[in-house]
Amino acid sequence: MILGKSEKRRIESVEVDLLLRALKEGYGYDFSGYAPASLKRRLTSLQHYFDVAHLTDLISSILYDRAVAQTVINNISVPASDFFRDATVWRTVRDIVVPQLSSFPRINIWQAGCGYGEETYTLAILMHEAKLETRMRIFTTDINSTFLKEARRGSWARHRMEAWRENYVKAGGEGDFDSYFVVRGDEVAIKDELKQSIEFVTHNLVMDDVFKEVQWAVCRNVLIYFNSELQERVVNLLSRSMERGAYLLLGRSEKIMDVAEKHTELEEIDDRVQLYRRAIGPIRSTRHA
Ligand SMILES: C[S@@+](CC[C@H](N)C(=O)[O-])C[C@H]1O[C@@H](n2cnc3c(N)ncnc32)[C@H](O)[C@@H]1O
Repeated sequence: MILGKSEKRRIESVEVDLLLRALKEGYGYDFSGYAPASLKRRLTSLQHYFDVAHLTDLISSILYDRAVAQTVINNISVPASDFFRDATVWRTVRDIVVPQLSSFPRINIWQAGCGYGEETYTLAILMHEAKLETRMRIFTTDINSTFLKEARRGSWARHRMEAWRENYVKAGGEGDFDSYFVVRGDEVAIKDELKQSIEFVTHNLVMDDVFKEVQWAVCRNVLIYFNSELQERVVNLLSRSMERGAYLLLGRSEKIMDVAEKHTELEEIDDRVQLYRRAIGPIRSTRHA
């Protein structure tokens, strides 16, 4: 059956497989471990964006046009974020994680999956307010170099400030949130002082290795896009990157206790905010009983 351009055919799994193969072989991005339901949702919206009846119509453009491939990659990897997103999480972080971190002589933070940087500078503000910025480095990573570039630039539409200001106060912020930004027309830009301790590095959680000896790993709203095997790989990677006693913060809906109990030395600290810690001693024996 031949469909008109405006008609879109339901996406078949084989088409998804072919498109993913084109991205992997053409550009080295492996999305095969991403959760099928969310992948199909993203690809359906791309089918409309590029106005193609069949998903397979996109494949030759992906292979021969880097700009098309980049648009597809950007859409699959979803940069959505906010400053102090899930405010209660950051309140818990202020109460539990930050005081513990202050006992370390140096603090390496690995933030995996930074989107456009809203969460990166949330971390920088928290550490600045705890007067820990001179002892810390934030290693901010993402699969997507376009997002990393934007995160480094640190500039967003001004109208978003209202919601972020509210989040900041709900998260226990007592300073002047606006003082961390400069206004440039319709945009707000984070002040350069807050960028001093941040390194922006491309890193793919699907295939790259352990990152650094970290005291705090933050990987929020990334695992939700992965299937269970990939989630397991990533939790192991994060755990192996963490020093004993280091913290791991995941997204609110990213419950990983099954994975953590099987393969890592992670203890749950607060399941409402998905906060874990790498055990200081050996793994508890009851886990494998
Ligand atoms: C929804 S954003 C999360 C942003 C921020 N962590 C937050 O929670 O507000 C998901 C981020 O994960 C990144 N990502 C997706 N797959 C990845 C992978 N395999 N390796 C590293 N980052 C990945 C995306 O590029 C995107 O920037």
